Formats: sequence, C-alpha cells, structure tokens
Amino acid sequence: MKRIDYRGSWVLVTGASSGIGVAFARTLAHRGANLVLTARSTDRLERLAADLTRSNGMETRVVKADLSAPDGVRTLLDGVDALGVSIEHVVNNAGFGSTGPFHTTQPEKESAMVRVNCEAVVAIARHFLPELVRRRSGGVINVASASAYQPTPFMATYGATKAFVLSFSLALSEELRGSGVRMLAVCPGPVPTRFQETAGLRLGRLLRFSRLEAAEVVEAALDAYDRNAPVVTPGTLPSLSARAAGVLPRSIVLRAARWVFEHRGDPALAQNK
Ligand SMILES: NC(=O)c1ccc[n+]([C@@H]2O[C@H](COP(=O)([O-])OP(=O)(O)OC[C@H]3O[C@@H](n4cnc5c(N)ncnc54)[C@H](OP(=O)(O)O)[C@@H]3O)[C@@H](O)[C@H]2O)c1
Repeated sequence: MKRIDYRGSWVLVTGASSGIGVAFARTLAHRGANLVLTARSTDRLERLAADLTRSNGMETRVVKADLSAPDGVRTLLDGVDALGVSIEHVVNNAGFGSTGPFHTTQPEKESAMVRVNCEAVVAIARHFLPELVRRRSGGVINVASASAYQPTPFMATYGATKAFVLSFSLALSEELRGSGVRMLAVCPGPVPTRFQETAGLRLGRLLRFSRLEAAEVVEAALDAYDRNAPVVTPGTLPSLSARAAGVLPRSIVLRAARWVFEHRGDPALAQNK
C-alpha cells in the first residue's frame, strides 16, 4: 500500500483545539503537511500551531470560527479562502454531543449540535470538493462515530447526527469512486477527550474497556485513508458492535443500545431511571 505523501500539501482540520483534532494535527504535521487549524478556542490553536511549526518545520495558519453560529461556516470558509492556500485534504472533525432523556435536554444545544455535526460537514465538503475533483486529488475525512451504526437512546440527537455523517460520507465515497478524490468516514468508539465533559458523559467501566486513545484513532483513520477505504471503525469492540447492529433486528439493537448506556457503570445515569 502506497502511503499518501502529505509533504507540502495543505490540510484543513476542524475541531483542532482539542482531543482527536489535536491528534490529527500532530500526526499530519509529523508527516509534513501544512495545516489550517480551526475551532473557537484561538489560544489553544495558536499554542498548538506554534508547537507544531517548531517541532516539524511545516507551516500553520489559524482561523477562528464558531460552527454553531448562523454565519460560522461562512466565517470559516471566507477565512480559509483569504489565506490564499490550496486545501488538498479536509478533516471534518469538529463536533460535540449531549446526554440525557431527549425531553430534558437544552433545546438550543440540540439544534447547535445539528449545525456543527451535520450542516458544517455538508457546507465544508461542498466548498472544497469542486476544486479537488477538478485536480483529481486529495479528499475529505469526516469524523462520525460508532454511534452512527444504531440509534442511541439518551444521546438521541448525537447518534442521529453521526448516522447522517456516515450516510452522507458513504454516498459521496461512491459518487467519487474513480475521481481520484478520497472520502472517508471515521467511526470511533469511546476516546477520552473533552467530549465526555461537554456531553455530560462519564466513561463508565463498560466503555472504558473498549476505549482507544485519540492518536490510535488517527493512525487507523489515516491508514484507511491511504487505502481509499470508505469507512473505518477503529478498535475491536466498536467494529464488532457495528457489524452486529447491521444484522440484528432493530428492536434488539435498540434495547442493546439502551442496556449499554444504562450499564456503563456511570452513577449519574441512575437519575434517568
Ligand atoms: N471522544 C469520543 O469518545 C468520540 C467518539 C466518537 C466520535 N467522536 C467525534 O470526534 C470528534 C472530535 O471530538 P473529540 O472527542 O476530540 O472532542 P473534544 O475534545 O471535545 O473536541 C471537539 C472539538 O470540536 C470543536 N468544536 C466544538 N464545538 C464547536 C463549534 N461550535 N465551532 C467550532 N468548533 C467546535 C472544539 O473546539 P472549541 O471548543 O475550541 O470550539 C474541539 O476542538 C467529534 O466530531 C466527536 O463527535 C468522539
């Protein structure tokens, strides 16, 4: 398998201020890519950019954008266009979740989640793909989740947004077959990052058992991207449960998803019963 040579190419990484986004940035910088890093936390992005440039000698740019704001995606795309660099790969990684019975969630947070996890992914892909297709190179990596494979009771909106990302990415990977442009959906299981705190989720005993580190997820993602695979589900347990969700009756899959959530070993969840 021939690995992609990122040296000198520009990669846009969203959600680059934390967790899996930082791991993407570090690995890609190590492989020689120049990076446009975006998120809301410019201080974190600036520190990361300086560190990556110092350690790897590549170039970095930072664009601040809140993808949940009505003009957030426009701010990002205008900001990237104004840099005058030619983006060859996009990592749509920004995203967040929430936990709890849906009728008790914060309405604005649920809607913002759809904007960040779905709308931004569509708009960003639509913006960069015409040029990639014209050049017959590069591609897009969309970070979905193992939650994409089945509905997720008590994380209903989050699971639905990630099912959207998986379906959208798979459809585009087929449209783009033979075009020279790659499209990959990454479906990680639990990864200890700020995600859990933002979602109000604790990694209970059950989920701790199947967790991967962010750097491991990124290695698996970039290996799959090298192979031009349409989807990758890093880790043995998430990949087995994804397969099971594809063959078992939906009623059993739903009950199992609920059972896993309720038996994560997270005492906070007892309140939901
Ligand atoms: N951790 C897991 O267990 C897990 C599992 C499966 C999939 N994922 C997915 O992996 C991706 C990365 O998550 P993570 O685990 O690395 O979580 P994280 O540490 O919380 O990072 C999330 C990133 O998204 C950015 N972001 C969130 N809201 C944003 C907004 N409104 N506008 C712009 N950027 C925003 C954050 O930056 P700012 O806060 O600075 O804006 C941050 O850089 C997400 O799509 C998540 O759904 C995570």
